[in-house]
Amino acid sequence: MASYKKEKEVLKILNISRTTLWRLKKKGLPHIKVGDSVRYVIDEVRDWIASEPTTSYQSSLELSNQIEEIQIEKERILNHYNIDLDYLFESNYFYLKKILKDNEIIKLKSTLKSYKDDGLPNQEIVRIFSKEYIKFIRSKYREQTRLSEFDEKLNNFLNQKDRTIKVIWGDAYKVLRKLESESIQLMVTSPPYFNARAYSQWDDLNIYLNDMRNIIRESYRVLDNHRVWVFNVGDIFDNDQITTKSVWGKRRIPLGAYFIKIFEEEGFEFVDDIIWDKGEVESKRHMNNGINYPLYQYPLNCYEHLLIFHKHRLDKSKIPCPVCGSLKVNGNTQSEIGVQSWECKNRNCFIRSPHNRGKRFSLRTNLMQYNHDNDKDNLIDSKTINMWRRDIVKFPPVIKINQNGENILGHSAPFPEDIPSMAIKYFTYVGENVMDPFAGSFTVPIVAQKLNRVGIGIEINKDLFRKAILKRINNSLNVFESGDTFEEFDVS
Ligand SMILES: C[S@@+](CC[C@H](N)C(=O)[O-])C[C@H]1O[C@@H](n2cnc3c(N)ncnc32)[C@H](O)[C@@H]1O
Ligand SMILES: [Zn+2]
Repeated sequence: MASYKKEKEVLKILNISRTTLWRLKKKGLPHIKVGDSVRYVIDEVRDWIASEPTTSYQSSLELSNQIEEIQIEKERILNHYNIDLDYLFESNYFYLKKILKDNEIIKLKSTLKSYKDDGLPNQEIVRIFSKEYIKFIRSKYREQTRLSEFDEKLNNFLNQKDRTIKVIWGDAYKVLRKLESESIQLMVTSPPYFNARAYSQWDDLNIYLNDMRNIIRESYRVLDNHRVWVFNVGDIFDNDQITTKSVWGKRRIPLGAYFIKIFEEEGFEFVDDIIWDKGEVESKRHMNNGINYPLYQYPLNCYEHLLIFHKHRLDKSKIPCPVCGSLKVNGNTQSEIGVQSWECKNRNCFIRSPHNRGKRFSLRTNLMQYNHDNDKDNLIDSKTINMWRRDIVKFPPVIKINQNGENILGHSAPFPEDIPSMAIKYFTYVGENVMDPFAGSFTVPIVAQKLNRVGIGIEINKDLFRKAILKRINNSLNVFESGDTFEEFDVS
C-alpha cells in the first residue's frame, strides 16, 4: 500500500520551500485531501516531476511560459535529488581552502566522514555541514580574541555540559576577562542598584556607572553573536553623591536610562523595555502626612525595567547557504545594524526566486529559522507567552525582608523566578549556557538548570552569601534525578 506523506515531510524530502510546493501543486502535482489537510504519495510526486508537461497547458503563450518555468523548477529538483557530505565537501573545497588551514581542512573532512549520511534528507545533510563548518569559524574567532587573562581551567569547568549549576566566586569583571569569547548564549541579571543595599557602596554615581560599564563591555565579548542580554533594573530614589552630599539630595535616579546609554555605547542594540509592574510595594515616598496641597505630592514607585539588548557583531566570514550548503555565496547587504546578509550564487540551489535570484540569508536568520518541527524541548508554553504578551507585566516581587532586614532566602534582593524563566525560554535553546554575572541568591542559574540549560553565576560576596546560596541550590536540586549537582570555582 502506498504511504501518504504530510506536506512537512514532502518539503523535507524534496528540500523545497512551501511556496515552491504550492506552485507545483497548482500545476497539477498529485495529492489527495484528507479533511482540511493534504497528503502525497512520494513515488507519484517523483514520477510527476520527471514527466513531460501535459498538452492541455499548451493553449496560450502565458501558459507555455508557466510550463517552462515549472520545467526549470522540476529539473533543478531532479538533478539535485541526493547530495551527501562528501559532495558538499568537494564542491566547497575551493572556498574552504581560502579560509581554513590545511590541518583544519583535514579535520573537517574526517569529522564529516564520521557521520552516517546514507539516506538522510538533503536538509539534514546541509545542516550537518554548516554546523561543522561554523564550528571552525567560531574557534578561529575565539582564539583571535582571547585576552591575556584567559583561564583554561575555568573554561573547562564551564564546558562540562551536565545538569550542573556552576558557582563562580569573584568579581564579575575579572571573571569575564578570563572567559572564552562568545561562549555564553544568554546573560540575565539584576545588578546592584547603586547604593540601594548595605552590601554595595560606591562613592558616587559616576564611579558606580563606570564599574558597570567595564563589566558590560566584557560581557559584550563573552556573549555569543546575535544573542540577548536581559537586564532588570529599577529607577531608584537616592543621593547620587555628585550634586549634593546631604541627605536632602535624594532624587529619582533613572538607572534604566543610564544603562541603555551605556549598553548602546558598548555596542549593544537596545530592543525592548518591558515594564515590570510590582503592584503595591513597601515604599513611603508617596505618603504626604495628610497634606493634600500642591507641590507636596509624589507617586508610589512600583515599576522596574526589563531592558532587552541584542549583540550583533558584524561577522564577514562566509557562511554556507542554509538551503544547499554551498559556500558560493556573496555578501549582499547589511540587513540590519551588525548583520551581514548573503545571497546564494549556486545556480543549482534548491530554492531560487521566481526572478531566478538565489536564497538570501544571514547568520541571524539561520539561527532563528532553526528547524522546529517536532522540537518539543524548545517549545515555549502558552502560559509564558500569554504572561509576557504586553510590555507592561504585573507580578509581585519576592516577599523577603524580615524586621532585621534579613530574609529567608539569605539575600536581601532576590528577584522572582518569572524573569529568568521568561528570558531563558525566549532566548535560549536547551543545553545552552545562561549566565548571571551578579548572581546574588542564584535564582538565574537555578531556573536555568530546571529548564535543562547550564546555569552559571558569578558572585563577589563569598563570605557573606556562600552558606545561604549553597543551601538554596541544594534545596532546588532534584534528588530523584541523578546528575543534578553544582560545582564551585574560586577566582577571588
Ligand atoms: C541585586 S543583587 C542580584 C540579585 C539576584 N538577581 C537574585 O535573584 O538573587 C546583586 C548581587 O551582585 C553582587 N555583586 C556586586 N558587585 C559584584 C561584582 N563586581 N561581581 C560579582 N558580583 C557582584 C552583590 O553581592 C549582590 O549579591
Ligand atoms: Zn543555496
